[in-house]
Amino acid sequence: MKIAIDGPAAAGKTTLAKRLAEELGFLFVPTGAMYRAVAWAQRNGIDWKRAKLEVREGGRIYLDGRDITDELANPEIDELSSKVAVDSEVRRHLVALQREIARGRDVVMEGRDIGTVVLPDAELKIFLWATPEERARRRLRERGGKFEEILEAIKRRDERDSSRTDSPLRPAEDAVIIDTTDKSPEETLRVVLELVEERRGKSCG
Ligand code: DC
Repeated sequence: MKIAIDGPAAAGKTTLAKRLAEELGFLFVPTGAMYRAVAWAQRNGIDWKRAKLEVREGGRIYLDGRDITDELANPEIDELSSKVAVDSEVRRHLVALQREIARGRDVVMEGRDIGTVVLPDAELKIFLWATPEERARRRLRERGGKFEEILEAIKRRDERDSSRTDSPLRPAEDAVIIDTTDKSPEETLRVVLELVEERRGKSCG
């Protein structure tokens, strides 16, 4: 079974996808972290086209055999990754890699274009949403910083991710849209697990 989770920045996609993958015993694939790895490579003068990018256990990201996961979650890489994601060459390269990773496996893959482009045949597509203010509050709790600056950065990324011509952020037609503004991570997980059971029931006849 393939599960696609899309949505805007800081909507809780990674938290949900990781927990869901643990519950189901599926592979967790955070595609945002892959765009972040390309941004990180460019910033460090590494040729991303030649570098070996791997997603390992628990969604850890390796570049040429080195675990760079902890260097990817900061405001600089937030901004740079959203910029590199506009580049069609980068997208082609990463989409091919993402499809390859998912081939023949049960996966929970999260990003912006998973339900629309990467895995259009996914059995379950979720589009996670929350107001920009709620998303900024969550990011503030996670990383600290200044609320207004975080909110501005989130709005800027929403705008860039949604307005690009190649694979913009939007819900797939058959996605279930979940507004998580007033939901805890546990509640969201429960709702999605119920949807998984429903879909599994259907596919068994
Ligand atoms: O989900 P995230 O914040 O880690 O993603 C970082 C950036 O990567 C995001 O601003 C847009 C881009 N991205 C994308 O274009 N397509 C994806 N499938 C995942 C992320």
